Amino acid sequence: MADKNYYVTTPIYYVNDKPHIGHAYTTILADVLANYHRLLGTPTYFLTGTDEHGQKVQQAADKNGLTPQQQCDQTVVRFQELWKRLEITNDDFIRTTEERHKVIVQEVLQDLYDRDEIYRAEYEGWYCVGCERFFAEKDLVDGNCPECGRKVDAIVETNYFFRMSKYQDWLIEYIETHPEFIQPDFRANETLGFLKTKTLQDLCISRPKARLAWGIELPFDKDFVTYVWFDALLNYITAIGYKRDDEKFEKWWPATHQLIGKDILTTHTVYWPTMLKAMNVPLPKTVFAHGWWLTGRTKMSKSLGNVVNPMEMVDRYGVDAFRYFLIAEMTLGQDASFTEEAFIRRYNSDLANDLGNLMSRTVNMLGRYCDSIFPTIGKNALDGAPEKELWDTVQQAVIEMEKAIDTMCLNGGLTAVLTAVRKVNQYFEIKQPWTQAKEGKTEEVGITLALAAESLRVCAALLYPVMPEKMSALRTAFGLGKPELNQLRTFGVIKAGTPIGNPGILFPRVEVEKVEEKPVSKKKEKPVSTEPVKIEGVITYDDVMNVKLRTAKVLEAEKVEGADKLLKLQIEVGEEKRQLIAGIALHYTPEQLIGKTIVIVANLKPAKIRGVESQGMLLCASIGDQLKLITVDGELPASGAVVK
Ligand code: ME8
Ligand code: MG
Repeated sequence: MADKNYYVTTPIYYVNDKPHIGHAYTTILADVLANYHRLLGTPTYFLTGTDEHGQKVQQAADKNGLTPQQQCDQTVVRFQELWKRLEITNDDFIRTTEERHKVIVQEVLQDLYDRDEIYRAEYEGWYCVGCERFFAEKDLVDGNCPECGRKVDAIVETNYFFRMSKYQDWLIEYIETHPEFIQPDFRANETLGFLKTKTLQDLCISRPKARLAWGIELPFDKDFVTYVWFDALLNYITAIGYKRDDEKFEKWWPATHQLIGKDILTTHTVYWPTMLKAMNVPLPKTVFAHGWWLTGRTKMSKSLGNVVNPMEMVDRYGVDAFRYFLIAEMTLGQDASFTEEAFIRRYNSDLANDLGNLMSRTVNMLGRYCDSIFPTIGKNALDGAPEKELWDTVQQAVIEMEKAIDTMCLNGGLTAVLTAVRKVNQYFEIKQPWTQAKEGKTEEVGITLALAAESLRVCAALLYPVMPEKMSALRTAFGLGKPELNQLRTFGVIKAGTPIGNPGILFPRVEVEKVEEKPVSKKKEKPVSTEPVKIEGVITYDDVMNVKLRTAKVLEAEKVEGADKLLKLQIEVGEEKRQLIAGIALHYTPEQLIGKTIVIVANLKPAKIRGVESQGMLLCASIGDQLKLITVDGELPASGAVVK
């Protein structure tokens, strides 16, 4: 994987409005991928930018009393500032109103026109301003836009058309013979389904200036401007020197990953490849469509007033936590839900508790027991069984993360790193450096703390692409700079004698009460009954004592194949490890469960559920279709506590 250049693009965003969490997501995803490829030593180029022409921008300008160019110049800054704030490391930022883009678009148009790939004709049909697309009468749904459901306008006019229809069979065959072209697979099937059941029309690539003047003028007819999508898609190649800088263009094209949201699948998997084909330019290796961020279960929309403002989240919880949540919470390709509650839950468990706490413990103990000087350790540091097991888990995280990048399964990679982080916390419990110190075992304390620090170093390198700021702070505390490729698999990189810094609390815990100050509606409050309480199905004290309830820590969690509702958990109950099957998969993802302390019935007779052994039962609270795990309020020193 490391031998090929890596070129990643985001969609270029419309400047009709300020950026929102969806824009932030795709850009962060591209950034994380770019960072990982840099970490792996692959030459990397990362492009983002803004889509500045077309009716949408024109309308926004009219509404705001600005010229279109003023509208662009004002809004583009919002995007650029956000990218700076979010630590985005794009190599270039293209604006479609830039000269370097416009001249190439015109050259492409002229060339296609000269070769009769573009022709002039009369058009009659329907137009959706929101999507900036034409639709034939038969494609409308209840007379509205088939893509977004909004009202469409009837239109009759002369226009220029790109002969897209002639590439229909070619495109079907291309998609079928290049399974990596459209990812995930089900998106390829979506495009194929459309191509195989509908006759592809030629694409209208012009707008008469009389109707819309805000665009790139057609080089062969000054009464028209270029259709915004035909202009916009070309940004991916104009930015890297197409027709101007062959060396640069050859170096980066074809792009490795063109990231898009599922809303713009057709333009990127039908318009774009046929345009490139007509231009004799190879197709990008992969167009990858991710799903939607939803608020709870509903689509984010301005009219519903549930759009998450990325700046606010960043102000409240920090850039790194925001980036981490977005990457950890979304399974690429699927929709994901953004709620502040879920954000805080994951922040507290993964970052404040596990990672942050581990860093504090390690630094504090290095201070207390080693005078904040990194200890000298012998070559035999990895000889002990717990040491070997810990280092193996850390190395497993390296392997899993590499795999995750290859398969675009970043949340899976993060889970592996967090597993390694938790393993270090467990390692401390096994080795008890505080006891080792009390007993005067100076060398052993050194090994224990060095092992933890080395593990943290590798975990921080693996998390660096996602959380560059905090992971730099963590590494700086150990006297380290940016992560280097050849250090992931090497033990003993932190030098003996290095003064250990204190980065402070990396991820301060967020107290949930403070956030959830929602006013409770008076109407819903029921009057308190003064009647004596009637209890149904009374049991005795002894009955209660027969049920052994214990706390357990979830170490691993995965779906049970073929059963949508079931999760298989590996749990730790004190010293003991158990496997438990729970019917909570519709309410919790495996990642949400790992690290949680749950309550189980520990003396339930083991049973096979769907052929899988289950040793115990976990407790949940549930009303209607809502379900929440029973967990412990605060922390106890170990799992396996008696619940009474
Ligand atoms: O479509 N969840 O620009 P755009 C996840 N200019 N991602 C989301 C999202 C959500 N709720 N909402 C938006 C355009 N996105 C064109 C693109 S490319 C040549 C031209 C992201 O400002 C997602 O990446 O409407 C989506 O594809 C993009 O924003 C659309 O941004
Ligand atoms: Mg859009």
